[in-house]
Amino acid sequence: MILDGPLQTLFEREGLPSYELPTPLFEAYGGGIGFRKPCVFANFVASVDGVVALPEPTESGHLISKNSRADRFVMGLLRACADTVLVGAGTFRKTRGALFRADAIHPDGASAFAELRERLGLAPHPRLVVVTRSGAVDPAEPALDGALVVTSRAGEAALRGRVSPNTEVVALGADTLLLGDVVALLRKRGTELLLTEGGPSLFAEAVRAKLVDELFVTKSPALFGRYPNDRRKSLADGFDLSGVSMDLLSVRRHGSYLFLRYAL
Ligand SMILES: NC(=O)c1ccc[n+]([C@@H]2O[C@H](COP(=O)([O-])OP(=O)(O)OC[C@H]3O[C@@H](n4cnc5c(N)ncnc54)[C@H](OP(=O)(O)O)[C@@H]3O)[C@@H](O)[C@H]2O)c1
Repeated sequence: MILDGPLQTLFEREGLPSYELPTPLFEAYGGGIGFRKPCVFANFVASVDGVVALPEPTESGHLISKNSRADRFVMGLLRACADTVLVGAGTFRKTRGALFRADAIHPDGASAFAELRERLGLAPHPRLVVVTRSGAVDPAEPALDGALVVTSRAGEAALRGRVSPNTEVVALGADTLLLGDVVALLRKRGTELLLTEGGPSLFAEAVRAKLVDELFVTKSPALFGRYPNDRRKSLADGFDLSGVSMDLLSVRRHGSYLFLRYAL
């Protein structure tokens, strides 16, 4: 069983693209899903009060979602649709040992995710791309096997000779890189469906640069609160986004969790 009970579709905008999903995915998601190419889509889990990142050393998503299986299923489904997964180094440093693959986050869906990728003509797994200015990523992380690290020239120097030959390192700027250049590089190399799993700093920067087409956000039924110097982050951090407008595309529900999809 992929999920204990399907997501319930409460609202869906008419005319959204919809792939021929393998039946177990269609049933568990409560309908279809699809994307117009090219598309950059982001996925987060946030508490009802909007917190997505906590300073604890472990990855925040599991803490915020309280390990929701439904959330992990949706993460898997979105990874299964993507040809590339993009994360900032802050997120990467927190997800030690993790593989950014559909089957890794929701193993019960592994065969259905694999079938979907085959139907979509995608490689067995999305390619991971990590963005880092400093180059401070652990070269021994298993997720870097086959991954691309996009960095500054200083970051490249820091990584030189330390990463395995299976990890590609590209320097895109002397000090600062523009996320628009990162997305342009990926497009040039054939990326059409780019999933970003954040974190909130990278996401805010990408929204400010008008690079994000869609946002998937799971509202976890929890309140975390904010207080001075809490080192917590809300979904978009570090930039004034001045009320960027979004259109609601779909709303799904699983227990007390809400799964929202927006176009930016
Ligand atoms: N709840 C969720 O769904 C969710 C999802 C993702 C992450 N998170 C949590 O969010 C936290 C991490 O997020 P974060 O906001 O701190 O970090 P982040 O956005 O993941 O990464 C920020 C880092 O990415 C690199 N970066 C960003 N923009 C860059 C640019 N233009 N050029 C070069 N490098 C760039 C820099 O790396 P360097 O510092 O190496 O230079 C920067 O410090 C963790 O706690 C994680 O668990 C939660």
